[in-house]
Amino acid sequence: MDIGWIGLGDMGSVIVPRLLDAGHRVTGWNRTEAKAEPLLERGMAWGTSPRDVAAASEIVFSIVTDGAAVRAVALGDDGIVAGLAPDAVYLDMSTIDPDVSREVASVFAGNGLVMVDAPISGSPITVGQGSASTMVGGDRAAYERVEPVLYDIGSRVSYIGPSGTAAQMKVAINLTLIVEMVAFCESVALAEKGGVDRAVAVDAMLKSVVASPVMGYRGPFILDMPETPLADVTLQQKDMVLALEVARRQGSAAPLGAAANELLNACRGLGIDHRDFVTVFDVYRMMGGLS
Ligand SMILES: NC(=O)c1ccc[n+]([C@@H]2O[C@H](COP(=O)([O-])OP(=O)(O)OC[C@H]3O[C@@H](n4cnc5c(N)ncnc54)[C@H](OP(=O)(O)O)[C@@H]3O)[C@@H](O)[C@H]2O)c1
Repeated sequence: MDIGWIGLGDMGSVIVPRLLDAGHRVTGWNRTEAKAEPLLERGMAWGTSPRDVAAASEIVFSIVTDGAAVRAVALGDDGIVAGLAPDAVYLDMSTIDPDVSREVASVFAGNGLVMVDAPISGSPITVGQGSASTMVGGDRAAYERVEPVLYDIGSRVSYIGPSGTAAQMKVAINLTLIVEMVAFCESVALAEKGGVDRAVAVDAMLKSVVASPVMGYRGPFILDMPETPLADVTLQQKDMVLALEVARRQGSAAPLGAAANELLNACRGLGIDHRDFVTVFDVYRMMGGLS
């Protein structure tokens, strides 16, 4: 298929090669053009604007930082909305506020166009392994048209419900992801303070019943922090703040999220927010007087 891709950051730059490998023609755009270089060498075509990309595509994806970025690439004279064909589908994969997603979808609907929220759960690692999961909220017929392409991105695909519900689900999932990794750090610090070697504690946690896929690939970061984060404290805290804001707005209790958010605040206070958010362990390390 002719696929358009907006946003070639950490996630977009690993998803596009999967689509090229699956035999699709991909036209891409990124605000910072230089990031497209490796993909242009792999056969991706360059579009001069989100509008230009949309005009060349049957399916258009965006994966950019936040709601403001989605508005910037989707709406306006140079936005996706200005180029999308009436029989094409626009999917936004960014992790954003469900209300912003619904608002953008309604602008598209007002122009006789289809936009669905299609957030992705995973990381550059799980995308590379083909095991990332995508969820879709919005027009069901549009979902059925794009479903095969979503399977080219990752092996788990779900239709969640009406517009905004997949964005809502993604916010809920990331709340668990962050709380779970903070709890992992707290447990390793607890074990270590009581005399267990740190590496032995990580290994025992990952062999125990509490181990999860995200712990499996992120837990070892406690021992060996990667130079390039999968998601740094700033990016991950955006999701926790989103969860807390959505919870406040709808009257949901989220005390565990609030506690985890304090650990992310501490990372920023210590000036370690550029590291993968598992650097939360460094906060526990300091609080526990560990080396
Ligand atoms: N990293 C993960 O593990 C992960 C997993 C699942 C979902 N997500 C979500 O996916 C989205 C992207 O994440 P990422 O890790 O790829 O982030 P990233 O590496 O920081 O990339 C962000 C992308 O957004 C673009 N962007 C930001 N503001 C923009 C604006 N105003 N106009 C146009 N483009 C703009 C950036 O363009 P420039 O290159 O010009 O800066 C870049 O392409 C986020 O919503 C994130 O929460 C991330």
